[in-house]
Amino acid sequence: SLNSFKIYEVATKSRSAGDGLDFSKLANNDSYYELYYSNDAATHVLVHPDAQPEFIELLNGNTLSYKIVNHDAGLSLHREFETNRKLRNAHPYRGRLGTERYYSHGEINQYIEDLAKQHPTRVLVKTVGRSYEGRWLKTIRITNGDGRANKNVILMDGGFHAREWISPAAVVYAIGELVDNYEAYAQLLLDYDWVILPVVNADGYEYTQVSPDTRMWRKTRQPSSAACIGIDPNRNFDFHWNETGASSDPCSETYAGPKSFSEPEAIVVRDLIRGLADRGKMYLTVHSYGNYILYPWGYIDELPDTWEDLDEVGRAGGDAIKAATGTIYKVGCSTQLLYPAAGASDDYAFNAGFPISFTMELPAGGDNYFNPPPEDIDRLVKETWVGIVAMAQKVVEKYPLN
Ligand code: ARG
Ligand code: ZN
Repeated sequence: SLNSFKIYEVATKSRSAGDGLDFSKLANNDSYYELYYSNDAATHVLVHPDAQPEFIELLNGNTLSYKIVNHDAGLSLHREFETNRKLRNAHPYRGRLGTERYYSHGEINQYIEDLAKQHPTRVLVKTVGRSYEGRWLKTIRITNGDGRANKNVILMDGGFHAREWISPAAVVYAIGELVDNYEAYAQLLLDYDWVILPVVNADGYEYTQVSPDTRMWRKTRQPSSAACIGIDPNRNFDFHWNETGASSDPCSETYAGPKSFSEPEAIVVRDLIRGLADRGKMYLTVHSYGNYILYPWGYIDELPDTWEDLDEVGRAGGDAIKAATGTIYKVGCSTQLLYPAAGASDDYAFNAGFPISFTMELPAGGDNYFNPPPEDIDRLVKETWVGIVAMAQKVVEKYPLN
């Protein structure tokens, strides 16, 4: 459990992310410290109870100022778990997914199946694979029902990282809008189909709902060694696999896996990307947290030749969100804004032929940052949708069907 774990907010010293915090100097660094987030102003680190004195010593030794922003991560997780249990009972699934609570993978699958039954001309659900534990991974394809084949495609996914609950919530909201309000999005469906996989890491996502002790799980659930479980699915793609910002330690939260595509969930996304590469114009993978719209490259500190196109579309999203709610997103290259991380799906999709490819990091929430309280879901998913619509509009305008 995360009882007595603390979250530190450390002032970041220089522009480069996490600078001044050399975790390699710390004992047990992969299991005792977890870097949640870092930007040019602040870094969030989750620290094991036994590692507090050592960590504070490191901070002082580097004259880094800090404050403890959560004194007992486990305590707040217990509180939230109880809230979620009550909400689940108060709002059972009845054929639609509202924004009053978070939903299970099973409910989300049921929802898209129900949509397909209700709207057979506009919605197609396809089973595209199985998770390690055997959960069905399903995509929903949304069209305007005109029956035209070979349109361009926007491919979107959520739930790569298990604990980032606001991601599937935002993706599910997008599905609801595109299906129920399709007339309002006629332009976005005229020459484009949307293909959406709401929960990539279904096993991990379900695991985070089992108990407060598992709420902060990130990886998949395939055993990675005798001692540890899970591979980071967003380090498991074979494009520059395990080169930077990934770990070879099976116990690390960013473990790249014993080999590329060791995870069935990553294979599912790979095959979707490959299968759609000739028609795919935008790939959007939704994560949390940090308020970023990130574009390649993520494996190296270099911009692709077409970075201005990526920047233009990303900015359209960031600007629309700012205009709608005032929320500020940073838009830019992954490596430059955040950190290098090779083997991720965004770089893979971009390299495979999607001219636009983003990782969107939604806002933080709750005492553990990955946990926006249920009453914030509605606001966050609507705000996210404003950004997605603006980006899709740009994409439709920039990449007409030829
Ligand atoms: N927070 C995401 C992760 O760690 C960021 C990925 C950004 N993309 C990249 N290729 N580095 O997976
Ligand atoms: Zn993530």
